[in-house]
Amino acid sequence: MKISTCFVVAVTLLVGCRPPVPSLQAAVNPSAAYQEPHRPRYHFTPPAKWMNDPNGMVYYDGEYHLFYQYYPDGTVWGPMHWGHAVSTDLVRWEQLPIALYPDSLGLIFSGSAVVDWKNTSGLGVGGQPPLVAMYTYHDMAKEKAGAAVFQTQAIAYSNDRGRTWTKYVGNPVVPNPGLKDMRDPKVIWHEASQRWIMVLAAGDRVRLFASYNLRQWQPVSEFGATVGAHGGVWECPDLFPLKLEGSGETKWVLLVSINPGAPNGGSATQYFVGDFDGSTFTIDPSFASSVGVAGREPSRGVWVDYGRDNYAGVTWADVPAEDGRRLFLGWMSNWDYARDVPTGVWRSAMTIPRALTLHRTAGGLRLFSTPVKELRALRTETASTPSQRVTGALALRVPQGTTAASAEVDVEFVVTPGSVTDVALELTNSAGDRYRVGYDAAAKQFYSDRTATPQGFSPSFASAVHRAPRISADSIVRMHLYLDRASVELFADGGATALTDIVFPSQDFATLRLVVRGAPVTLQYANVSGLRSIW
Ligand code: FRU
Repeated sequence: MKISTCFVVAVTLLVGCRPPVPSLQAAVNPSAAYQEPHRPRYHFTPPAKWMNDPNGMVYYDGEYHLFYQYYPDGTVWGPMHWGHAVSTDLVRWEQLPIALYPDSLGLIFSGSAVVDWKNTSGLGVGGQPPLVAMYTYHDMAKEKAGAAVFQTQAIAYSNDRGRTWTKYVGNPVVPNPGLKDMRDPKVIWHEASQRWIMVLAAGDRVRLFASYNLRQWQPVSEFGATVGAHGGVWECPDLFPLKLEGSGETKWVLLVSINPGAPNGGSATQYFVGDFDGSTFTIDPSFASSVGVAGREPSRGVWVDYGRDNYAGVTWADVPAEDGRRLFLGWMSNWDYARDVPTGVWRSAMTIPRALTLHRTAGGLRLFSTPVKELRALRTETASTPSQRVTGALALRVPQGTTAASAEVDVEFVVTPGSVTDVALELTNSAGDRYRVGYDAAAKQFYSDRTATPQGFSPSFASAVHRAPRISADSIVRMHLYLDRASVELFADGGATALTDIVFPSQDFATLRLVVRGAPVTLQYANVSGLRSIW
């Protein structure tokens, strides 16, 4: 049964039915669009309706593909499709027609995509490698009927640079041994064994499979039942090699999203660092102490981002070796309140794209997240506040025309060792909303406080201040922030601590100042840049 055959792009009310129209670009980049309250200026959002996880992220022929969990008929979660957008620079996105629609096997849940360079699948034509997407079918009717198995894995392929997709006739391609939760396949090419590896979320663990042709899969191992955070079901895994900075070594990183069970409540993404021999993932002995034995407490986990709004993030496949970056992006929301946030025609945005790097820190091996350098193209002008000792509040210099609603802020300060002090960047508006993101030196924690912003739409949205451990031991504290109309992304200490929170002020934040409570601090500098809209 085809659950939904039509989709709506609200801005121009362009309505299409299968087969998809060739391009909706004209419909989604009009100057009049994207002016609604809370509509992000430079974060990816669907033009209209509901979005959750990023899916099928793959780079091919000059384009970064971003597919996403999409319900084209409503602004809350519903029968899932794969929406689709492409970008040549990770900054500006062109919306394309829906790539995958539900069918008789089920809804189209999360998954990944790869370039099948050697045409191992035999699905390529004309000497061109096919793009192959792997996703989960979720059979809602079977679930409702109480069946034991309703999630299966399937593939689809494209021979036209991702513009149209054909579902493989032999679907599903991975049998489900009777698991209720078995989903979100992430496929990688394993160079050493010349085969494909798929990592799947399966309840309280991940399961790994191998294939020589993307069509037939053999189980090879499983991981995780006895380590890490287990406050909820595991979802959306990713597995990739990453160079350990400052060494010749390469480690393997396993990302696992979990909902609930996040450090600040609801959903978040934990990770493990170790080795992968082509079949089995083993935790690095030095990392094992960080994740301990399995537990329900979030303290058992090490997290990609400690904010409440970075979920189901995975990395792009096939980024060229000359580039060499491991590029990541997540869904900027939380299942605790994603359906309730006060936006109009659309719901949810993605985080900005980030580069992940691996570092040895005093606390062990840790992933650092930094905004991709391409985002610098959005800067208008930069204003600098010079070095000075700060007590109380200091208004930061801001380029003319720039407001706190769309800015990049880079602040460095020194805290006297042992002093009790709190340094925050404070955003306010004339409606009396106040948001703070800062550093609590006594607790050695960064934090995000949205408790004085509108929250009536959900009791769990702003019930507490969100906290993140400081990983770095440097004497200088650096906070690099990306502020958009409805989000704040903090990259502290060169990306050692990341914290992403969404926020819905009753009108755009206008002012931006540094507020010091407790002992004074020495500000090294504060640079504020305006950021242009991508629409
Ligand atoms: C994660 C998730 C996935 C699933 C998808 C359904 O947010 O629950 O596990 O595939 O969303 O939309």
